[in-house]
Amino acid sequence: MRRKLAAGNWKMNGTGAELAELAALAQSHPAPEGTDILICPPATLLSRAADTTRGGPVQVGGQDCHAAASGAHTGDLSAAMLLDAGASAVILGHSERRADHGETDAIVLAKAEAAIAAGLLAVVCLGETLEEREAGKTLSVVGTQLAGSVPEGASGATLVVAYEPVWAIGTGKVPTLEQIGEVHDFLRAELTNRFGAETAEGIRLLYGGSVKPGNAAEIFAVSNVDGALVGGASLTAADFSPIISALE
Ligand code: G3P
Repeated sequence: MRRKLAAGNWKMNGTGAELAELAALAQSHPAPEGTDILICPPATLLSRAADTTRGGPVQVGGQDCHAAASGAHTGDLSAAMLLDAGASAVILGHSERRADHGETDAIVLAKAEAAIAAGLLAVVCLGETLEEREAGKTLSVVGTQLAGSVPEGASGATLVVAYEPVWAIGTGKVPTLEQIGEVHDFLRAELTNRFGAETAEGIRLLYGGSVKPGNAAEIFAVSNVDGALVGGASLTAADFSPIISALE
């Protein structure tokens, strides 16, 4: 049985003042059964966020890491550094990084391998653009991204896959439940082909893109949706708490 996962991606939002939201979140969900809670704040907050949430239900994660273990990479962070700062997971291959930083499947793959080797849960993101969806290419695009970004030997203990259609991120537009189900069923089948049924059944699939308190429950009822990767609505406990509750 896969544990549910409510993951928040704060993106480039938040300073020390927003740590109070983490404390409020932990208070609202003291002991969720069968549900994991992950917040990925900006790297500047990671260590303080880990201190704030230590011993409670909320785990913290990074939003990116470098594939190398150390070295001359100004401005970058290694997976081991994230772990050292208190992270248990890292988001990789988010469409904003793929678009803004030219991250290819091969780069995301290398980062995922480094993250898993360091002991982090790799949350690998994929998703189609609006043009790709309208051209009927959604499944081939996400299939290619999955094949190219997910490391050999991955399992439910080391990998989460987040399906985030690019056109649904921060737009208030959400695919139909049928569209979400079609992609999640496809991703499960692709994972099964590659890793076998037992391993594939253990890998959690998240939906991301304009998830809000008002639409979370119906999205979570879709087959093969094991939780959500949430942007804007993860920034406050008032918004994220009902999304977690919809999973519990
Ligand atoms: O990684 C989460 C994200 O891309 C979705 O953002 O604001 O549409 O929930 P948002």
